[in-house]
Amino acid sequence: MTGQEGQVAKSLVERASHHRDIEAVAIGRPVLDLQKPETVLPALASAKPDIVISAAAYTAVDRAEAEPGLAYAINEAGAGQVAAAAAELGVPIVHLSTDYVFDGQCDHPYLETHLPDPTGAYGASKLAGEMAVAQANPCHFIIRTAWVYSPFGNNFQNHASPCQ
Ligand SMILES: NC(=O)c1ccc[n+]([C@@H]2O[C@H](COP(=O)([O-])OP(=O)(O)OC[C@H]3O[C@@H](n4cnc5c(N)ncnc54)[C@H](OP(=O)(O)O)[C@@H]3O)[C@@H](O)[C@H]2O)c1
Repeated sequence: MTGQEGQVAKSLVERASHHRDIEAVAIGRPVLDLQKPETVLPALASAKPDIVISAAAYTAVDRAEAEPGLAYAINEAGAGQVAAAAAELGVPIVHLSTDYVFDGQCDHPYLETHLPDPTGAYGASKLAGEMAVAQANPCHFIIRTAWVYSPFGNNFQNHASPCQ
């Protein structure tokens, strides 16, 4: 999987460690750098995957407004390269996306059939990434999650105040 130091990747590696029949291999920079397309296929091929999980991304939602080019380079082009590499290796890809592909105005839960309408650069780059993934690998699963929390990284679980 991509995203070695990210909270999703770290969580999956930790969970997989409890299952003898699952080997989770997380690969990150500099071996696999989404800004260096030439690194993607060799890095993934070295793990001989049965499935690729695409958990690396540009995730700085607010900063993306100031550096949309970088957000797109990683979240669109990079994600597409990971999907293309998985296709080349003949394996499916599970790609992490976000609720930011929607505008957030809906007063009931979003369905897969709702039309995306991102309001910011991060959401737009992730939506572009979804399309790049779908185009590059017909065997894809795209998960639009709203919030990730884990013992790792920056999330509300790690920053919550203790109950009083
Ligand atoms: N966190 C949330 O609440 C949330 C909510 C909805 C969706 N998601 C999605 O879920 C996925 C995983 O999120 P996360 O919270 O685990 O993210 P994260 O903790 O911010 O980790 C992102 C990972 O991407 C890697 N990365 C960034 N740029 C890269 C590049 N150029 N080449 C290779 N790796 C690069 C980072 O590597 P370094 O460690 O080297 O910086 C980091 O390991 C993302 O697709 C995100 O959009 C997250």
